[in-house]
Amino acid sequence: MRTKSMSVKDNVLYMGEHRLQDLAKEYGTPLYVYDEIGINDKIRKFKDNFNSEKFNCEVVYASKAFIAPYLCKILEKNDLSIDSVSEGDLYLLKKSGFPMNKVVAHGNNKLMNELIMALDYGVEYLVVDNLTELLRLEYLASRKKKKLKTLIRINPGIEAHTHAYIETSLLSSKFGESIHATDILEQMVEVYRNSEYLTLEGFHAHIGSQINNPNSFISEVKTMCQFMRDFSQKTKFEFKTLDIGGGFAIKYLDEDVEIDLPTMLNLIVKAVEEEIEDTSLKIEKLMIEPGRSLVGDSGITLYTCGSKKTTFSGKKYIFIDGGMADNIRPALYQAKYSVDIANQVNTPVKEMYDVVGKCCESGDIIVKDAMIGEIHKGDTMVVYSTGAYCYSMSMNYNSLVRGAVIFVNGQKVTTAIRRQSFEHLFDTCVYEEKEMKIFDIHSDMLYDLYKQSLIGNNTRFLDFHVPQLQNSCIKGAIWTMYSPDDFNLLKAVKVAMSKINLKDLPGFQVIFGLEGLRNLEKVEDINKLYKLGFRHAMLTWNEANKYATGVAGDANRGLTDEGEKLIKRMEELDMIIDLAHLNEKSFYGVLKISNKNIVYSHGCVKDICNHRRNVTDDQMKALKKVDGLLGLTLAKNFVSSIEEEKDLEHFLVHLDYAVDIMGVDNVCFGFDFMDYLSEFPNDNIVDVPNATKAYRIIDGMRKNGYSEEEINKICWGNFYNRFKDKIMLKGE
Ligand SMILES: Cc1ncc(COP(=O)(O)O)c(C=O)c1O
Repeated sequence: MRTKSMSVKDNVLYMGEHRLQDLAKEYGTPLYVYDEIGINDKIRKFKDNFNSEKFNCEVVYASKAFIAPYLCKILEKNDLSIDSVSEGDLYLLKKSGFPMNKVVAHGNNKLMNELIMALDYGVEYLVVDNLTELLRLEYLASRKKKKLKTLIRINPGIEAHTHAYIETSLLSSKFGESIHATDILEQMVEVYRNSEYLTLEGFHAHIGSQINNPNSFISEVKTMCQFMRDFSQKTKFEFKTLDIGGGFAIKYLDEDVEIDLPTMLNLIVKAVEEEIEDTSLKIEKLMIEPGRSLVGDSGITLYTCGSKKTTFSGKKYIFIDGGMADNIRPALYQAKYSVDIANQVNTPVKEMYDVVGKCCESGDIIVKDAMIGEIHKGDTMVVYSTGAYCYSMSMNYNSLVRGAVIFVNGQKVTTAIRRQSFEHLFDTCVYEEKEMKIFDIHSDMLYDLYKQSLIGNNTRFLDFHVPQLQNSCIKGAIWTMYSPDDFNLLKAVKVAMSKINLKDLPGFQVIFGLEGLRNLEKVEDINKLYKLGFRHAMLTWNEANKYATGVAGDANRGLTDEGEKLIKRMEELDMIIDLAHLNEKSFYGVLKISNKNIVYSHGCVKDICNHRRNVTDDQMKALKKVDGLLGLTLAKNFVSSIEEEKDLEHFLVHLDYAVDIMGVDNVCFGFDFMDYLSEFPNDNIVDVPNATKAYRIIDGMRKNGYSEEEINKICWGNFYNRFKDKIMLKGE
């Protein structure tokens, strides 16, 4: 089935102005080629023939047939809608800039995130598949205070006389609620009756695919309209919208029945008009969801012929450089296709061949018993009608790369999807994963050891912390002493340090730090702490003290003169100056007089979570300017104010944001684990509650696409390479 703008000149096949063999050479094979003129022609056919004076008609392209940003542009230009069936679809449509209020979200098992995306993106309709899903959607919509129009997918129990795998509305099918399950449907209507956010606009059904008998659609329309009439009377609910799905067939073989699409569409519209004539049914919108019929017969696949083989039994094969990996339909549905040799299309003498692929599968047959003229190695073979459910179902079996997808429009050729490289093929492969380690720049170790010693527990380090750190990817840390009011800082640090023994933590590296200096009597006393090995300090905790002002202090009070002297002394001692806990005035006050060894050891992004201890974009930029480091913390209230969002997923959003602003070289981690501090037992995010679960952050970063090099920088290198000379203790 040649596409709209295909032609033969001098026995050679063209699409538009291009010889197919030239396209094959230029873009490599297998190559998917779409006839843009053919697609636009099909769109026009739908638009010209699917309309009514009695109700609106909306054509929703079924993206599962094939989707790419370039096609989104064509569909948007023609004012069509598009459906989605997964998070990935929603992500791509959003990223393609397609208007999300023209998206219909489908799926028989929508994940929580899919429902959230549909709500957040503001899709036109969400097609609810079942009661459980509706209850989850209601919960999310009310929590997000977001309105959403919905349809309920009904299984009308209609046989569509097509391949079993693409038959979707037998009573045993997995899709939708059965038309007979009125009890469940009534429960669903009750949810809508009490919902402030969800509206039930009407119903959806999809009976199957590759249907060429208009009667199947007519009986679908009749069944659905009858159901809507009865159910409306029963529930006193008005249903204004009917979506009958897709399923319109295309021609694959010469002998296939030619589908008269305009007539089919007119018949469907007429059937609905008759159903609402003089009845209580008030349909305001009729929707269809063509996939295959919009792109299927405007797409072809080009292959390069390899060698021929005649088996001992006389079976003739022609090998092509693709196969089931780029077109699974023959293997999956026993689908039939027709082929030609593009560079010599009309050779008189034909022989029967199986056109077989290069996958290591006997079932890798693209066309069985194809009558083909002369074939030579290197010839370009064209397989017709591969525009639907070929690229979208393609895979990398046998490590075959996915071919490119191009659109031809006369002279113009547009690449919609590039050919995969081997890098693409394996970009999610983990080669040798370096044992990733983390330097945690904020841990209340010293404070905990001192506190425990006050209650007579002098083996806290060996009993609790060593086993935990032995079981963690944290291999270095700034161990700080927090000092509350009226606290003998010097005594406390000596006691705490005496409890440490790194013999069971080989390679573990420690910098001693101070969380707040309210108990530092005078600036010079910092020398004593320095002598004890302290190489890091924060001027305050949240309080205002003689040196500076914490976030709990007066916003108009900043760094004091004493504070300036202290910063100068710390600079002379080459100590790490930690700006965490300071209010903004003090923060900028320090940066005005110092730009050396600057960190903000533990905080998150204020723009994401408005916690007073989080940093603003400007503070991040100011840190970056002095090549300072931001240590992201796992304190759950810094990650989000919403309980359910105090998790790794949302923590990683802070990471992405901070890296966006500061770059990958100025971000690290200051976890602030509190699992061992009785006053804040589980104040860290739910899925990384203590040091033994820190590896989950590395997994999360890998999942989010950070390279091994970037992970190593953020987890270890950024801090270690700057401050390894401050390390006072190392496990042998
Ligand atoms: C809900 C729904 N709508 C539309 C379609 C598109 O069907 P077709 O490509 O046959 O038009 C499908 C295909 O499976 C579907 O599941």
